[in-house]
Amino acid sequence: MSNCAVFLSGGGSNFQALIDRKNSGDLHVDFTVCISNNSKAYGCERARKNGIPVVHLARGRFGSNEEYTARLLEVLSAHSVEMIVCAGYMKIIPAAVVEQYRNKILNIHPALLPSFGGKGMYGKRVHQAVLDHGAKVSGITVHLIDEQYDSGPIVLQECIPVPDTDDAESLAGRVLALEHAHYWRAVEAVAQNRLTITGRRVTGEL
Ligand code: GAR
Repeated sequence: MSNCAVFLSGGGSNFQALIDRKNSGDLHVDFTVCISNNSKAYGCERARKNGIPVVHLARGRFGSNEEYTARLLEVLSAHSVEMIVCAGYMKIIPAAVVEQYRNKILNIHPALLPSFGGKGMYGKRVHQAVLDHGAKVSGITVHLIDEQYDSGPIVLQECIPVPDTDDAESLAGRVLALEHAHYWRAVEAVAQNRLTITGRRVTGEL
């Protein structure tokens, strides 16, 4: 069983879907800590309800990047973390953490990367950008995290049509349901060491 940290900033419905998959026996990880930059995030409440320790860590509360990164690494080590799952985490992960957990940090993005991603592309903005562009499909991307926003090797993508009647809200709802249905598969594949990474290509059974 891999020890897993969850990083989140908001409601944590993806985290809940992962907890549900764990409880149903599909996902074999131990969530040993939930780390959030936002102490009021409902996702933290979900962690507490499930007996998972919560640590509030925001860059703004530290004097320097170095102090912030050192504390983050300390927390990860204290909770014996082997892999990290970002579930609606809106901050960049420090390079030293990426380096230490290379190919062991997953993120989910509510569109088909490399389109409609990058800094500032989160929440409704992503779906509005998809609609404004006139894209006929959208979907989800699960990728390994590297040093830039939304840029690491892609592990899993699933797509859905974008009907003419969609608005950002309806599209967001369908994409979120798709996230809940599939994120656990990529988390399980990393936890079970089933993935091979060659350059940008990720292969292995999901
Ligand atoms: C999800 O749609 C996730 O893909 C997105 O935030 C939402 C979090 O929802 N993440 C990003 O946009 C990252 N760039 P949740 O808190 O209910 O899981």
